[in-house]
Amino acid sequence: MSLTFDFLVVGSGSAGLTYALRVAEKGTVGIITKKDRAESNTNYAQGGIATVLDSSDSFESHIQDTLVAGAGLCRVEAVELIVREGPVVIRELIDRGAKFTEKKGRLDLGKEGGHSANRIVHAADMTGKEIERVLLNQVSNHPNITVLEHHFAMELLTEHHLGKQVTRYDNDTHCYGVYALNVWDDKVEKIYAKTTMLATGGAGRVYLHTTNPEIATGDGIAMAYRAKARVANMEFIQFHPTSLAIAGADSFLISEAVRGHGAFLRNKDGDRFMKLYDKRLELAPRDIVARAIDDQMKKSGSDHVFLDLTHVPKDEITEHFPNIYNECLNHGIDLATDWAPVVPAAHYICGGIVTDLEGRTSINGLFAAGEVSCTGVHGANRLASNSLLEALVFAKRAANKAIDYFNNVPVEKHSFPDWDDSGTIDTEEWILVSHNKRELQQLMSGYVGIVRSDLRLERAFRRTKLLYDEVESFYSRNKVSVPLCQLRNMIGIAYLIIRSSMRRKESRGLHYTTDYPQSDESQNRDTVI
Ligand code: FAD
Ligand code: SIN
Repeated sequence: MSLTFDFLVVGSGSAGLTYALRVAEKGTVGIITKKDRAESNTNYAQGGIATVLDSSDSFESHIQDTLVAGAGLCRVEAVELIVREGPVVIRELIDRGAKFTEKKGRLDLGKEGGHSANRIVHAADMTGKEIERVLLNQVSNHPNITVLEHHFAMELLTEHHLGKQVTRYDNDTHCYGVYALNVWDDKVEKIYAKTTMLATGGAGRVYLHTTNPEIATGDGIAMAYRAKARVANMEFIQFHPTSLAIAGADSFLISEAVRGHGAFLRNKDGDRFMKLYDKRLELAPRDIVARAIDDQMKKSGSDHVFLDLTHVPKDEITEHFPNIYNECLNHGIDLATDWAPVVPAAHYICGGIVTDLEGRTSINGLFAAGEVSCTGVHGANRLASNSLLEALVFAKRAANKAIDYFNNVPVEKHSFPDWDDSGTIDTEEWILVSHNKRELQQLMSGYVGIVRSDLRLERAFRRTKLLYDEVESFYSRNKVSVPLCQLRNMIGIAYLIIRSSMRRKESRGLHYTTDYPQSDESQNRDTVI
């Protein structure tokens, strides 16, 4: 079976939905998404969107903060774009119906690590849910947009599937849509489109402890890499310093906005240890805070540190952080009286599919935006609350370019072969999938985490290769399923993270290795694979 749209969008988070609403003005749009439509990293975003709105703040200051966090690797034009477009996208969200928190009739601007001014627009501590709500509301009512839930994009349709040899250095590879597994019918469908937007988000689930929901398995990056798109900077994995360290809490995030509101970090002896690491204390950029916590845990043998908000009045805590307060309470922690045990967890991937400033990838007709992409905004470390901003700004830019492509570029029509699963069976030991996933997550957390070394990376590489061989062989013999495809993608992502980390023989931003603890200006460039 096949479907055809003018514009295909894979993913229904902030990037995919923003893009879809714009291109829908010009043609039919199909959005495919692997679970329910709201399930995305976007839906869990807490702190907010960084934007210059106060007269005491300036674009230059936001640009400078972003460049400092990015440790020399940001693309300045990309940073300037998101910062200057910030107020426009906030206004558009408000026009779409978003309700952000206000104080005395004006937007209440919060503060987060690495920002030198209050500039975080937020909806209490559930900003992502509000964004997802308003975007989905418009998408669901749009006559040109069809949302296909529980459709899992497996592979990009390119000349490769027509029997042509495709390499990473060709300029004439095209994307014509995707093969997608319709989970309801358990059938692989072809979905054709003249342009395809990959907005599949991040890959936190490659690690054992992550703030990301289950959808974050890096499918888009893995798929694009297999299709020979260019991918960069995969070594830069951001660990959020404060996820709740309680069994059963699934690494629930405690927003950086809580530290912005005055929370202290304490070690097991009760000392505010950040003074030993950075003069910005708890509001130093995330890489510094996460490494400091890691260091404190290693020195004390403890598996967590504490976040202390007990000096803030209870009604202030519940007003600003209702979701976080309640979630902690569900796990027996009253933030008004108790210190919360916290630990860093994998949170965001700065690298991804390389795009230009218009969201174009190295494959014709294939666009990417949001966490799946590498636009150059984040460099070696993302500044807090710059991610939603990047997703919104770049999705719009990509939509304008995709409309151009749709109107002006002649695209040949091809008939792609149906998905071939002849000779596959459905009887093997499916335990292999869950077991190998756990093993992969453990090895990534153990060997490719906050602090790395050559030895750890080599070990991780060898073990990942074994998992790769085992899973590829399993994949070739068994019918496809979402867990199997996700595991295959996660192994691909692990490979890219490890290889990129091995190439960088220095410490920079989020990549810290004990073998090369200093940064080296001669390596001040992207790791492109
Ligand atoms: P997502 O919102 O993750 O959407 C990806 C979509 O793709 C989902 O619909 C998913 O189901 C779909 N998908 C994935 N693979 C497939 C496939 N194979 N087939 C079909 N569909 C697929 N950033 C900020 O700027 N500010 C914050 O306050 C903030 N807080 C955060 C808090 C948490 C707990 C987390 C996890 C992240 C936070 N971030 C924050 C980061 C930010 O939320 C994400 O980077 C951003 O939302 C990514 O948006 P996106 O549209 O690129 O991807
Ligand atoms: C948070 O609320 O701490 C997350 C913000 C972000 O990831 O940018």
